[in-house]
Amino acid sequence: MEQYIIKGGKALAGEVSIGGAKNAALGILAAAVMTDETVTIENLPDVRDINVLLQTIEEIGARVERSDRHTVKITGGTIHSVVVDNDLIRKIRGSYYLLGALLGKYKNAQVTFPGGCNIGSRPIDLHIKGFEALGASVKIQHGMIQAEAEKLTGAHIYLDMASVGATINIMMAAALAEGQTIIENAAKEPHVVDVANFLNSMGAEIKGAGTDVIRIKGVMKLHASTYSIIPDQIEAGTFMVAAAATKGDVTIRNVIPKHLEAITAKLAEIGVEVEEYDDAVRVVANKRLGHTQIKTLPYPGFPTDMQPQLTTLLAICDGTSIVTESMFENRFKYVDELARMGTSIKVEGNTAIVDGVKELTGARVSAPDLRAGAALVIAGLVAEGYTVVEQVEFIERGYECFEQKMREIGASMEKIDAEDARAVQKFKLKIG
Ligand code: EPZ
Repeated sequence: MEQYIIKGGKALAGEVSIGGAKNAALGILAAAVMTDETVTIENLPDVRDINVLLQTIEEIGARVERSDRHTVKITGGTIHSVVVDNDLIRKIRGSYYLLGALLGKYKNAQVTFPGGCNIGSRPIDLHIKGFEALGASVKIQHGMIQAEAEKLTGAHIYLDMASVGATINIMMAAALAEGQTIIENAAKEPHVVDVANFLNSMGAEIKGAGTDVIRIKGVMKLHASTYSIIPDQIEAGTFMVAAAATKGDVTIRNVIPKHLEAITAKLAEIGVEVEEYDDAVRVVANKRLGHTQIKTLPYPGFPTDMQPQLTTLLAICDGTSIVTESMFENRFKYVDELARMGTSIKVEGNTAIVDGVKELTGARVSAPDLRAGAALVIAGLVAEGYTVVEQVEFIERGYECFEQKMREIGASMEKIDAEDARAVQKFKLKIG
C-alpha cells in the first residue's frame, strides 16, 4: 500500500501539462475492438483503470501493443472470447463499455457487473433498456451481464437521465446495428463527443454528439484508424483548483478551455484570475477568496467529478458556500476526512453547507474514492504541517504521476510505502 506525504503551505507556481481524458479513453479503448483491423490510439493516459481495461482486452484475445507510454495499437481481429471477467475488471466502471462494443460487433457479450468508485448507487438500467430497444435480450446472472441478439436493429431511444455511460454504450452497439438509431436526452460531455468522433474515424455514421439528440446510421463494419484522445478536463480542473487553493500562479497546458468553462466561471466568481489561451489556462490567486453556490449537473453544468475539489477550496474561503450534489448521493464521504484538518462543513442530504475557515492543519486522512482523494491532496497542499493521504490507489485510477506533476509546480509531496516505518521521517528530514 502506498501513501502520499505532503508538507503544505507552499504556493504552487509554474507549468503543468494535462494528459488524455480517462473517461474518454475507457470508451475509446472498448470501441477499438469493434474492428478487426489495427487501431492506433494516442494521448492515452497511463493510469490504473486504463491499464486494467487494456489487460482485459488482451485477455479476450485482442492484440495490444504499447508503442510508448501514451500510445497503444489494438487489433480486435484476434478476439476469441466475448466473456469479460477478472478480479481487476470487476473493480472498474469502464468495463461496461465492452458490453456495447462486443454486442455491436459479435451480437453477444458477457461482461462482469461494473464496479467503480463508491459514490452512490450506480444503476445501469438505461444501458440495458437501450440494448433491449436495439433488439438484444439482456440477463443478469451470477454477477455477469449477458446481452445477445440475432441482429441489432436501429431504434428511437429516450434516456430518462442524460447518462454518459448509457449514451456511449448505446452509441457503440447502434454503430453496427441495421438502420437508424436516435438517442434523445443524450449526455453531452466532451468524452461522449470524443468517443463519437473516434467511431466516425473508424467509419461509423454518428451525428449530433455534443447535443441532446444523437443520430446513428448503422454500418456493416468499421475500419482501422489513428486517433488522439482529448485532454482530461477533470485533471485540468483539479490543477486549477490546487493553484487557486495554494494562492499560486500555474499555467495548465494541453487543455481545451471551452471544456473548463463551468470550472473557470466558479473560480472567477470567488475571485480567482483565470486567463484563457488557445490550449492553456493560467490560474492566479493572490487574495483571500469568496464564497459561492454550486450544483453539479450534466455537461455543460458544473461536473460532479470536480465537486470534492471545489468544496475543499470553498472550505478555506471567506463566508458560507452551498454545494448541491445532484448526480451521486454518496459523494460527500471525504467531508469527515477533511474535518480532521479543521474544515467546517455540514452535510444535509445532498447538500453541503461549507463555512470557510482561515486555515487547515495537516493530518492523516484516507482517500475514499478517486476525486475525493485528489481533494484531500489539495487540502494537504494548503494545510500547515504534514498530511498523509492513505489509499492513493484510488487516486492513481485516474491521475497519472500526480505527485510528480505536483512537485513540478513546487509542491513538497512524495509517494511513500505505507509499510516503511521510516519513510515519513525521511521525508521530514529531507523537506525540513
Ligand atoms: C461517468 O460515470 C464517469 N465514469 C464518472 O466519473 C462521472 O462522475 C459520471 O459519468 C458523470 O459525469 C466513467 O466515465 C467511467 P452516468 P457513469 O451514467 O457513466 C444515473 C470519475 O471520477 N443513471 O452519467 O456511471 C446515475 O445514477 C468517475 O472519473 C441511471 O439512473 O455516470 C447518475 O445519477 C466517477 N441509470 C446519473 O444517471 C443508468 O443506467 C449520471 O450517471 C445510468 C445512470
